[in-house]
Amino acid sequence: MNIKIISYSLTGNNDAVAKSLAAALGAQHIQVSTAGKKTMPAIFFDLLLNRIPRVSPAAIDIHNDDLVIFIAPVWLGRIATPLRTYFKQLKDKPCKYAFVSISGGADGDNIKLADELQSRMGRKPVALVDLHIASLLPQVPKPTRNDTMKYHITGADRKNMTDKIMAALQPALAPSLQNV
Ligand SMILES: Cc1cc2nc3c(=O)[nH]c(=O)nc-3n(C[C@H](O)[C@H](O)[C@H](O)COP(=O)(O)O)c2cc1C
Repeated sequence: MNIKIISYSLTGNNDAVAKSLAAALGAQHIQVSTAGKKTMPAIFFDLLLNRIPRVSPAAIDIHNDDLVIFIAPVWLGRIATPLRTYFKQLKDKPCKYAFVSISGGADGDNIKLADELQSRMGRKPVALVDLHIASLLPQVPKPTRNDTMKYHITGADRKNMTDKIMAALQPALAPSLQNV
């Protein structure tokens, strides 16, 4: 089983964790980019109109026995739209996949992620990990959306989050680790 990490990041947090996870797993890391940096109106209209933004790379070579780990932020309760192209490409492939997000979490859990993944991929992920920036900040006063959106994770946060993701992925990784 080969592990491929496909990450998208607007402000750097998800890419930073993806990079560290790729190093921990010895996985191939594919960083997704959009034609220009996404603006707030573009994010909003993509979500409102259910659009699929143009991304690079346009296609990814995935084999049926690969494990694909998607990593991206949550925007307005939905998975960041630049991953949609790959969800569409992988929907008809039997490969396993996981979804990880370093999201803000100022308003609590993002409760629609499992349903969105089921609907876009036609099957459940082997792991769904949503880690919140809000949990890294002082809890009094309660962190706001603005606080979480401004925060850039540190090296210590990155290590901590990578460890948590590795633990969540263990059941899916067990068969491949036995062969290492
Ligand atoms: C337009 C927008 C909407 C967001 N909506 C949510 C949300 O619904 N839930 C959440 O937990 N975080 C939300 N966030 C916060 C991001 O998920 C968070 O800042 C994340 O760490 C950014 O990741 P990045 O640095 O990889 O782009 C939102 C951020 C933006 C820019």
